[in-house]
Amino acid sequence: MSSTNAYHDEASPYGSGDPYYSASTGYITPAPVKNRTTNWLRIGLPVLIVVIIAGVIGGVVGTHASSKSASVSGGAADSNSPTGEAAASQAAVLKNAIGVYPTATDSLYMLPIYPSTTNSAAFSQPTFHPSDNKALAWPKDPFQPANPSITAVRPDRPRLIAPTYKWQALPALIANDPYLQQWNATIFGNATQYYNSPPVKYFMDGPSGILDNARETKMRIKAFSYAYRMTNDTKWVDRTWAELQNAISPDFGAQNDTKWNPSHFLDVGEFTAAYAIAYDWLYDQWTDDQKSTIRSSIIQYGLNQGIIAIANSNNAWWGWWYADTINGNWNCVCNNGLTMGALAILNDDQSGIAEQILSKTLPSALAACANGVTSDGSWSETHAYWHFGTTGHAEMSASLLSATGSDYGMLDSNKYFGLTGLFHMHGSGPGTAFMWGDHGPNRFSTTANGMFLYGSHFGHPEYVLHQRDQHDAPEPWSMFWYDPTVSGAYWDNMPLDHFFDDPLTQWAAMRSSWTDETALFAAIKAGKLVGHQTHNDLDLGSFVIDAMGTRWAGELGSGDYRSADYFTSDDQNAVRWLYYRKRTEGQNCMMVNKQNHLVTAAPTVQHDSSGTAQGSSTVFTVPSDSTAFWTADLKSGYADTTSYQRGMRLLNGRKQVLLQDDITASQPMMWRMHTNATVSVDGSGTSATLAIGDKKLIMQILNPTSDMKISTGPATRFSDDPALPAGETDQENPGVTVVMINMDAGTKSLQVLFNPQWPGMAQGDFKTPPSVPVGSWSLRSHD
Ligand SMILES: *[C@@H]1O[C@H](CO)[C@@H](O)[C@H](O)[C@H]1NC(C)=O
Ligand SMILES: *[C@@H]1O[C@H](CO)[C@@H](O)[C@H](O)[C@H]1NC(C)=O
Ligand SMILES: *[C@@H]1O[C@H](CO)[C@@H](O)[C@H](O)[C@H]1NC(C)=O
Ligand SMILES: *[C@@H]1O[C@H](CO)[C@@H](O)[C@H](O)[C@H]1NC(C)=O
Ligand SMILES: *[C@@H]1O[C@H](CO)[C@@H](O)[C@H](O)[C@H]1NC(C)=O
Repeated sequence: MSSTNAYHDEASPYGSGDPYYSASTGYITPAPVKNRTTNWLRIGLPVLIVVIIAGVIGGVVGTHASSKSASVSGGAADSNSPTGEAAASQAAVLKNAIGVYPTATDSLYMLPIYPSTTNSAAFSQPTFHPSDNKALAWPKDPFQPANPSITAVRPDRPRLIAPTYKWQALPALIANDPYLQQWNATIFGNATQYYNSPPVKYFMDGPSGILDNARETKMRIKAFSYAYRMTNDTKWVDRTWAELQNAISPDFGAQNDTKWNPSHFLDVGEFTAAYAIAYDWLYDQWTDDQKSTIRSSIIQYGLNQGIIAIANSNNAWWGWWYADTINGNWNCVCNNGLTMGALAILNDDQSGIAEQILSKTLPSALAACANGVTSDGSWSETHAYWHFGTTGHAEMSASLLSATGSDYGMLDSNKYFGLTGLFHMHGSGPGTAFMWGDHGPNRFSTTANGMFLYGSHFGHPEYVLHQRDQHDAPEPWSMFWYDPTVSGAYWDNMPLDHFFDDPLTQWAAMRSSWTDETALFAAIKAGKLVGHQTHNDLDLGSFVIDAMGTRWAGELGSGDYRSADYFTSDDQNAVRWLYYRKRTEGQNCMMVNKQNHLVTAAPTVQHDSSGTAQGSSTVFTVPSDSTAFWTADLKSGYADTTSYQRGMRLLNGRKQVLLQDDITASQPMMWRMHTNATVSVDGSGTSATLAIGDKKLIMQILNPTSDMKISTGPATRFSDDPALPAGETDQENPGVTVVMINMDAGTKSLQVLFNPQWPGMAQGDFKTPPSVPVGSWSLRSHD
């Protein structure tokens, strides 16, 4: 193990409860796809959905769990739709009638299952109704300093995230909002579960830290503190105290100031944030001695370590402090934890350390964390790391705002930050996310609930509507960030396609529906290979395809974060690029001469879309001329190649996908795709049937030359790959098959057509597109 890996951690992002979690590696391993089951009992409202909407508005029958043919068209939206207070009132009635959706249990993201309805009155344009709906809106914060200063905190407690005026308003808001009701109940359920568990057990995870311990402690403390403030039952205070004592006890970590593991500073950040919340939210309950203990812990194990880290940043190669380069989750999480700790103890501690920390963390976070979002709204690390970055960013912004009356530009200094909700939404497919690169560690206190804060701040009600249905919505931050005056459906008028064009993060998402969990989803990426905090893969042109509720082309995710030099470098000769899951051969890419991509690649992309947007109905029929395509010039990523363009497009009303590679290379080529399917190649070698459960997808080479043959193989390294570092092995990829198409050197146009065998679609309904060079693709080039 190399100590240079000490700044990251490992394990499944979904934790040991995840069905794909492997106890031996800690990572997700693909598993056979189970039959789609829905978890109606999880929330217990679905019957209500059908009955009440059908009764009140008419026209809703069935759900996605049943077949579409069961849905009945109801009364269309009244053309004299109400406005103002009437609209707000109707929105509130509808929200209560519809209730909270259940979530699927068989996708990694437990995606919500939307009721099947063509009654567009049930779902309208996303809107906030604050002025029309005062009874259901948050009151204005009485603390409105004319000249906010980062060291001038509000007079009352709590000062972090949820000031008193919000706690006072909350019960009435809960009473009128099904989401707040469900989240409140879930938080109490979770708090009770943690209450009955022993305090978090110290676990130094190889060389990588105690980040799981820190995030789990923080998650619990948030729930306990919330439960106390909602009940005044001091058993929650006592349980919080036990958790606080635990992580500073002699049994926990080092017997000195490094107890919270500053060599992996994320751990310090998360522990400091946890102690800050406990100190601030339960302030009135602590004795002076307890306050003093919490304050000293924050200072000794948190803020002092921050001062040391900042002073030594020249020596810290992992330097989260380097504002100009570390614009990923590290900067957000570390600066946020120190900021929350400092704000919590400001004025109670006279040493000046809180002021000193704040003078450092804010400029650093403004320069780096706030710039983790690129000009297209993407998170610069990976799709999965967006969660860690935005959780830190949202907590820091909300803490500064509540404590001092300003976020000092955390939200707005990067003028593209407001787009980041689109990045999150479009990256989620009907099966699971387009999660390129590393997946990240266990989540615990990390969620997507920054979507609530961003939705309100940037005026994007669709972010709020999208997140409130997700499985990770119930937690204390949501109770205060959610604007209950929101109404409508996020999918109403939401384009099916989005193209992200920043040179660092170019990617495309194209789909056939936002609400049908069996929809088609095709996503593909290019972008620079370096500049992602060493979380990227060598994955130019890599893609995923979902259809019929199943992922057909997928990714392998993280390698073992503890592997030697996994994070040390992303240079061409980096050790990282020796591991199968990070190599080009471990992606869904074209290879020339079985070589890794050139890390200097600078792709260019083009795209177009019919601009199709879904309506308010959840039952959406795609117009037959609706299409989208994305092409990339990827030559700069390849040696021995004089030209290379890859294009992906949707065909036949978004029921089929064409992937085309126009390439000239002086060495043999190999097209690769990873799938969980069982693959049978036909006798001609030019088409193959992929089967997952009872679903099938047929892939076919169009206009093949005689050398183009489909074959299959294991998801393992080539026998002639350069060797791994001594003692290292690749993770296994059980259940995954690689579909390969080998081609001789020369000029080739490899056209692979993917035909998901949709229920009710006859062979004659599939289209065979014309052969058009990728460079000549247009919206109508394949009609
Ligand atoms: C929050 O949930 C708890 C536990 O279910 C319940 O006792 C309490 O009444 C709820 N609070 C409000 C304001 O509804
Ligand atoms: C919180 O409770 C919900 C509902 O029971 C459950 O699904 C979820 O896994 C719990 N969360 C944690 C972190 O235990
Ligand atoms: C808790 O105590 C506070 C302060 O006395 C009071 O305002 C609040 O109503 C109490 N809450 C509950 C749920 O009893
Ligand atoms: C703190 O203690 C750990 C072992 O418990 C030791 O490795 C480390 O060097 C000590 N650090 C300092 C600053 O004394
Ligand atoms: C295999 O299935 C799992 C679970 O749905 C998914 O996360 C993974 O991406 C799939 N792998 C491939 C290669 O499609």
